[in-house]
Amino acid sequence: MTWKVGNLELKTPIIIASGTWGLGDTLLQYLTPQELTYAVGALVTKGLSLEPMSGNPPPRLMETPCGLINSIGLENPGIKTFLEDYYPRLRELKIPLIFNLHGNSEEEFIRLAEILREVGEEAIELNISCPNVKKGGISFSQSPEVVFELIRGVRKVFEGFIAVKLSPVGPVMETALACESAGADALTIANTYPALGIISYEPLRIIRGGLSGPAIKPLTLRLITEVSSRIKLPIIASGGVMSGKDVFDYLLMGASAVQIGTANLIDPWSPIKIYEEIKELLRSYGRLLDKGNT
Ligand SMILES: Cc1cc2nc3c(=O)[nH]c(=O)nc-3n(C[C@H](O)[C@H](O)[C@H](O)COP(=O)(O)O)c2cc1C
Repeated sequence: MTWKVGNLELKTPIIIASGTWGLGDTLLQYLTPQELTYAVGALVTKGLSLEPMSGNPPPRLMETPCGLINSIGLENPGIKTFLEDYYPRLRELKIPLIFNLHGNSEEEFIRLAEILREVGEEAIELNISCPNVKKGGISFSQSPEVVFELIRGVRKVFEGFIAVKLSPVGPVMETALACESAGADALTIANTYPALGIISYEPLRIIRGGLSGPAIKPLTLRLITEVSSRIKLPIIASGGVMSGKDVFDYLLMGASAVQIGTANLIDPWSPIKIYEEIKELLRSYGRLLDKGNT
């Protein structure tokens, strides 16, 4: 098998989603490099910022009947520490790495892309669900014009693969069109859905965060079907993948590759199991896919 997402070539259609496998060390506690290279087409790093971020105060996670609400707050050690302490071990894996980036302004995104270009990296995923401090803290994803300018700016300094990770709420179609005309290479659809959970009544403890897991798969599947009917950019699906069938459903509805997120938190071997399942499904139903993948 080879899988193409624009000019990015993957050995399998399975990508491990940002923020669900630590910074590298956690994943490597469970999976051997051989297992990873066998099943995984690419790894998306934890969201990285210019400066370290300590994230949100607790509560940070709440399980719901069909999903998970997280309010991690983009905790990360900053790109410099990541490159010094975690990157060398990940690079040895010989699996394509996609760097998930978040900036508080267009300038920060551009600087992050420049740093990665300087170390010779060739693939980034822009998390546009983060707040834009220059626009009063409103998320980039709420304004297709701002997203257009952002991608144009990043494209000027970064020739490699640029995926834009869309928020599932707001002007999704307009944002996807803006990404296409600004020169992005792919769309990741989508990030988590804004949600709220009640943890206890006395004292009242609530969590506001992003919902992920099986609950969101039908919502994201619909979003991908709609976007792929109007936009030619390759789509990387992200939302509620727990099985090979989930992967196949996304491929059938227009995705070129599929990310596994919350499933890793339940079982770090999920990517291997899901890969075995998707191989079977591709044998039986692969003829139904027409994405230029082989
Ligand atoms: C604990 C946790 C941390 C996450 N951190 C990030 C992040 O840093 N950047 C990002 O773009 N998405 C992040 N995500 C979103 C996931 O990458 C994924 O898009 C989302 O969870 C939907 O997929 P899933 O239902 O398979 O989990 C995070 C999700 C979870 C559950």
